[in-house]
Amino acid sequence: MKTQDIIDLRKYKSEKNVSDFFLSRFSPRVFSSEEVPNSDLETILEAARFSPSSYNRQPWFFYVAKNGSSFFQKLSETLVEGNFWAKKAPVLILACYIEKDQYGKNEYAQYDLGQAVSGLVYQAQILGYYTHQMAGFDKEKAKTLVDKNHTPFVLIALGKIGDYEKADEEIVEMDKTPKERKNDWYQLI
Ligand SMILES: Cc1cc2nc3c(=O)[nH]c(=O)nc-3n(C[C@H](O)[C@H](O)[C@H](O)COP(=O)(O)O)c2cc1C
Repeated sequence: MKTQDIIDLRKYKSEKNVSDFFLSRFSPRVFSSEEVPNSDLETILEAARFSPSSYNRQPWFFYVAKNGSSFFQKLSETLVEGNFWAKKAPVLILACYIEKDQYGKNEYAQYDLGQAVSGLVYQAQILGYYTHQMAGFDKEKAKTLVDKNHTPFVLIALGKIGDYEKADEEIVEMDKTPKERKNDWYQLI
């Protein structure tokens, strides 16, 4: 299957006037090996930096590893089996939250990290990259790789979308199915 066919299949449909930008984002499992320049990575991380956070505590830290580095290798060894495809991504980002700072325990650390990741994801999309977030990795193992104040929470594969004509059939099958969205997610009062 051609990559463009996957992109077309995975584009979300909405009857509301939501921007195509949001409908076009999806989490692929096939990434190009094309290197991501540091300048683009810096721009992407800058979007996370300007994310809102409770009391502006900014309880996040990102370890950005390029494929080929020993840190990337170590991160890829933490992945659960089902996330094997992420080992081919050009970049893996380990997103950590900071649970305790000079003001004490931060009840909103995970929430704020999620918002920062959201900024990063959409800035990546603006630059033509795709992302795929993963909870499926060994967090205890990942903890041994980071500063003691950082709690690993999500791994993010990032890169240009890859060639689905050369991808495993199993992955193409998984990725060609549009993800359902529930219909009862808010109440307008
Ligand atoms: C916190 C989080 C953890 C996730 N963990 C995994 C994972 O371990 N493996 C995986 O293939 N996808 C994972 N995903 C991707 C979701 O399955 C995906 O976002 C969801 O099915 C909606 O699909 P879409 O992102 O393509 O719209 C995760 C997403 C988030 C936000």
